[in-house]
Amino acid sequence: MPALPSAVRGAVITGWGTALPPKVLTNHDLEQMVDTNDAWIVERSGIRERHVGGTTIGLSIESGRAALDMSGVELGEIDALVLATTTPDTQWGNAAAVQNELGLRCGAFDINAACSGFVYGLVNAHGLIAMGAKKVLLIGTDSLSRIVDWEDRNTAVLFGDGSGAVVLEAVEGPGQLLAWDLDADGSLGRLLWADIGGFIHMEGKEVFRRAVRIMVDSATKSLDHAGLTADDITLVVPHQANIRIISAACERLGIPIERAVSVLERTGNTSSASVPLALADALDSGRVKEGDLLLLVGFGGGMTAASAVLRWGGGAPAGGPA
Ligand code: COA
Repeated sequence: MPALPSAVRGAVITGWGTALPPKVLTNHDLEQMVDTNDAWIVERSGIRERHVGGTTIGLSIESGRAALDMSGVELGEIDALVLATTTPDTQWGNAAAVQNELGLRCGAFDINAACSGFVYGLVNAHGLIAMGAKKVLLIGTDSLSRIVDWEDRNTAVLFGDGSGAVVLEAVEGPGQLLAWDLDADGSLGRLLWADIGGFIHMEGKEVFRRAVRIMVDSATKSLDHAGLTADDITLVVPHQANIRIISAACERLGIPIERAVSVLERTGNTSSASVPLALADALDSGRVKEGDLLLLVGFGGGMTAASAVLRWGGGAPAGGPA
């Protein structure tokens, strides 16, 4: 992937929000449903509970509204709504339904890059801003519980539902994004897939092995583009699939696990929502300070991978017409 051109108009994140359905499914609940146990799930994945229920559109409205409220933008100022999801409620128009419900009057489209979707969306949103958009609402949402086979212990223990959103605003100058990478290897598609109308299928061990590799590859490319090393990174905000995957990737990158954000204990793998849920957790808990360098990195079905390096902080809002 190309490095960021030097003269591009940048963006900063000015608001964020999350949504999790109220119903919590614990590992102990799962013990009643499939042949599994809490100790196995915690040891092999780090997950203790996940939220299930709701719809992709409904969760997106909730997280999107929270992000808009925090940013304080006027609804009429949003130029585009990008919704990353791999579990749309309807074949098309999910982002448009969210746009309408939030009272926005802007372009709205769905993108699907599985669990890499939010970081793919982040890069796309920056692209829109580079081309003149001034304010973009980016949402990552998945309601995976609808495509999980609750009789398959290989997958039932891993996934959950949720949503995370950010508002991006154009600034004069470079903005937060220092570098990005988008990657895919379609030859690995059948390691993790769901046919339309079907359930999630997964070759768990092989997905694990490949996931670590493509995460590290993508992160390394972004770091190289930014002219940074692992030592420069304050926090890694990784896709929340399995704590052992995060740990193995951090080890290979040379980043101590203490510098990785993890919410999967409470959320499970929420696909497109997992990176924004982790980012919001880090921001809300005060782990991110002005000037900190964040490495966002996702991987998922396809297989896809994506990463971005952000320097956290403000920037003067861009003036003039969009
Ligand atoms: N509960 C209890 N035991 C289970 C189980 C479950 N839910 N699922 C599998 N087992 C058993 C297996 O049958 C196997 O038993 P055996 O040793 O008697 O054959 C044993 O546990 C080990 O299974 P294995 O598949 O080797 O475990 P693992 O260490 O590879 O962990 C995953 C399984 C799925 C947690 C792990 O491979 C993984 O996380 N893969 C990546 C998945 C992922 O991230 N997907 C989304 C990507 S976006």
